[in-house]
Amino acid sequence: MRRSMVAGNWKMHGTRASVAELIDGLNRQALPAGVEVAVFPVSIHLAQVVEGLKGVALSVGAQDCAIEAGQGALTGEVSSEQLRDAGCKLVLVGHSERRLILGDSEEQVVRKFAAAQAAGLIPVLCVGETLEQREAGETLAVVARLLDSVIDALGVAVLSAAVVAYEPVWAIGTGLTASPQQAQDVHAAIRARVAAKDAEVAGGLRILYGGSVKAANAAELFGMPDIDGGLVGGASLNADEFGAICRAAGN
Ligand code: PGA
Repeated sequence: MRRSMVAGNWKMHGTRASVAELIDGLNRQALPAGVEVAVFPVSIHLAQVVEGLKGVALSVGAQDCAIEAGQGALTGEVSSEQLRDAGCKLVLVGHSERRLILGDSEEQVVRKFAAAQAAGLIPVLCVGETLEQREAGETLAVVARLLDSVIDALGVAVLSAAVVAYEPVWAIGTGLTASPQQAQDVHAAIRARVAAKDAEVAGGLRILYGGSVKAANAAELFGMPDIDGGLVGGASLNADEFGAICRAAGN
């Protein structure tokens, strides 16, 4: 049985004051025991969040990491080793905002994934198609290519210590959600592609759905056989809403 996961991607939101409020709200949530819950604040708030959520059964992750695992001359970057030292357990790699707006290439995403694992972090590899690609019927090919770039470079076994998040770009922050069946179809294709290389790794791989997940649609999405939880953006900035999404994953 795969343990479901709900991850809150706070993106570039928050001040020390608003993060303190969110921490308070999360401290008041009844989180389901069977669900792994994680939040991903901006790096400068990591220490505050790790400290503030010490008593909560919740992991903290970063939104990105450097292409090198250790310390070095890479101005502006934060390494996986430093994130680990700050109390992180996970890190997002290849979020579509980084790929499409900030120019993270597939090669850089592979290096970030490898660096995360080298430092003992669990990478959450984000893959997904744009609206244009979906309309051209390229969804499965695009998702397969992004997945394969990691598998071909690092081997399928690396996915046994990683999480995959399927996030259709057209559903991120738009209020448009993939229907449970649309999402399930892609999740099943991802799992089948991994299974063709290693059935055991595929069976244990958690594949999260992301793109306008909220309390109102979470249960239906998480009820699909290959959807193992969610990567939640906007709705994770509200502790009550996020708590409700976590509880939906526990049912
Ligand atoms: P959203 O973002 O829930 O606001 O659509 C999801 C994500 O980008 O991880």
